[in-house]
Amino acid sequence: MQRPYAIVVHGGAGPHRSGGLAERMQGCETAAARGLEVLQNRGSALDAVQAAVVVLEDHPLFNAGRGAPLNAAGEVELDASIMDGRDLRAGAVAAVQGVPNPVALARAVLEDGRHVLLAGDGARAFARQHGVALCDPGDLVSDAQRQRWRERFGTVGAVALDARGFLAAATSTGGLFGKLPGRIGDSALIGSGTYADASAAVSCTGHGEAIIRVVLAKLVCDHIGAGEAPGAAAREAVDRLGARTAGEAGLIVLDRSGRAAWVTNAAHMPICWLDSSGGRVVEA
Ligand code: GLY
Repeated sequence: MQRPYAIVVHGGAGPHRSGGLAERMQGCETAAARGLEVLQNRGSALDAVQAAVVVLEDHPLFNAGRGAPLNAAGEVELDASIMDGRDLRAGAVAAVQGVPNPVALARAVLEDGRHVLLAGDGARAFARQHGVALCDPGDLVSDAQRQRWRERFGTVGAVALDARGFLAAATSTGGLFGKLPGRIGDSALIGSGTYADASAAVSCTGHGEAIIRVVLAKLVCDHIGAGEAPGAAAREAVDRLGARTAGEAGLIVLDRSGRAAWVTNAAHMPICWLDSSGGRVVEA
């Protein structure tokens, strides 16, 4: 009998329901459908989360890849990470320029296996050596589009459970509008923005400095590993973040039985959940 499989995608927690929400919900559904297609074809959870996040990095309305905001120097610097819950292999890139799909670069770091996190020019050089697509850093900068992110958080992510029972998570972001050059957020940090093990997979969104302080993704996985249900673990962790840091954040989680949850203390967070039995939720 085929084991159940599932994917959850988020399009970033934000402080208000601004324009483009319908398009972003549609974008999440397209990304989740792409990931589900991978799972349907007996692809891995790792391939599924990467495929889903690439869709969102290529979409100009999400804060990742081509839709990322400018930093204080008027440049785009991107963070991303990906983790395989089967064996704890992980890859991440931080403050990287001219890489339209940083999740693909994070995957190359994971597959290479020597390191977990590469940053800046070193990460770009690694992309060149490993055949990951590059572009001119200026190609990712277009003013009017970036201005729209002034009061938003954004970030995109996906978690998946494949038909073999393995979990994976991936997260990608342009970070905060106007951030200092060189600032690295939670999305590049395994344990903070992304985590996957044998019990659960988590991708976070929101205020990176708050998420890093409570190591949000690992916190949720540890609680699920200790027997807590995903919904309760996610709620407890986001409440702890709010109480300890006053920050806003959200997260999506899947456990090894395919139980999903999503929680945010921000005004909204577009998500899409799809599973092998035809289950579907799209909401913000
Ligand atoms: N959560 C994305 C960031 O703060 O960079």
